[in-house]
Amino acid sequence: MKILITGGAGFIGSNFIHYVIQKYPDYEIINLDKLTYAGNLENLKEIENNPNYHFIKGDICDRKLVTSIVENFKIQVIINFAAESHVDRSIMGADVFIQTNVVGTQTLLEVAREKKIEKFVQISTDEVYGSLDANGKFKEDTPLHPNSPYSASKASADLLALAYHHTFGTPVIITRCSNNYGPYQFPEKLIPLMIINALNNKPLPIYGDGRNIRDWIFVKDHCEAILTVLENGKIGEIYNIGAENEKTNIEIVKLILKELNKDESLITFVKDRPGHDKRYAIDANKIKTQLGWKPKHTFETALKATINWYLENKSWWNKIISGEYLKYYKKWYGER
Ligand code: NAD
Ligand code: DAU
Repeated sequence: MKILITGGAGFIGSNFIHYVIQKYPDYEIINLDKLTYAGNLENLKEIENNPNYHFIKGDICDRKLVTSIVENFKIQVIINFAAESHVDRSIMGADVFIQTNVVGTQTLLEVAREKKIEKFVQISTDEVYGSLDANGKFKEDTPLHPNSPYSASKASADLLALAYHHTFGTPVIITRCSNNYGPYQFPEKLIPLMIINALNNKPLPIYGDGRNIRDWIFVKDHCEAILTVLENGKIGEIYNIGAENEKTNIEIVKLILKELNKDESLITFVKDRPGHDKRYAIDANKIKTQLGWKPKHTFETALKATINWYLENKSWWNKIISGEYLKYYKKWYGER
């Protein structure tokens, strides 16, 4: 199998590449990544010399480049992880989200159509469904109601992918997963940000009252679900992915502090994220009953493993938390 993975130098993409290379050493993986602030080739250092792995620096919006990769490597499958992925950054400026998440996905779909790709997996998110009150869960047929520029751009990409399937027969499958955590997550996201701030004895900024709820899944379970969908998913279908693990943000932060033996006085309530979605919860029954996938990790053990990973990989995140990150951090949190 020859797979084009876009955005493979990011958090989930790099975890997915490690997972597939280990499971199927004979698969050929081509990783196309623009190396934005979120892309990091260190995530893939262990496999950079593997003869079945190829990295190409480039933009998914570059149709000529994508076409030449698909032709030269005889690509059969595209899995599109590439995206601007952080809600707060989409509030600070949405342009690049529309460019990469919408125009970039459409560019890949065009190439997939023209070159008759066998499968196109669009990695989407539960955020396209919007926000829940105390009850209910997102199902695959829950109407789309994205609330941030990020989620609106991801919903647009989903609609384009479905339209390409409907109109041209492009063999699209969409996955919509809940909040991931695990190794290599960029420290702008809740869990790594709180671990690193706690380790540096810096304030832990909680938006609003900290009672917003997210439904957490370990990244390796997400990767396994994506591979299941690639192998057994039905063309034209959407699959929700989640691990039935709802937690308030304040619960998560307290667990991290406890695990690191740090004082709760580090918690600082700050001005809320504008348009902050209250609750996400995924109904993953379709993938469980139809494709036989289920998560293997419990939150308690996988959160501990994640915290240990950040403890053991200080040099990885120490390099990140200067430069662009520092500018972003000062601007966003300075305003809160
Ligand atoms: P990330 O921000 O860590 O990584 C994104 C990667 O895409 C980076 O390597 C970046 O360099 C690359 N990229 C950005 N723009 C590009 C472009 N124009 N061309 C080529 N490469 C480009 O994101 P992530 O958290 O790994 O998320 C991956 C995908 O999964 C995204 O599509 C996201 O919407 C989706 N998702 C994420 C989560 C989560 O909790 N992180 C949950 C559900 C779905
Ligand atoms: O649900 C899937 C989505 O999860 C993905 O599509 C996105 O790519 C990913 O970034 C994530 O979005 P969230 O906005 O839910 O994740 P984030 O880590 O930014 O925030 C999680 C919760 O924590 C949210 O309620 C906001 C809150 N938060 C976040 C940060 C960064 C804080 O209270 N303080 C913070 O400093």
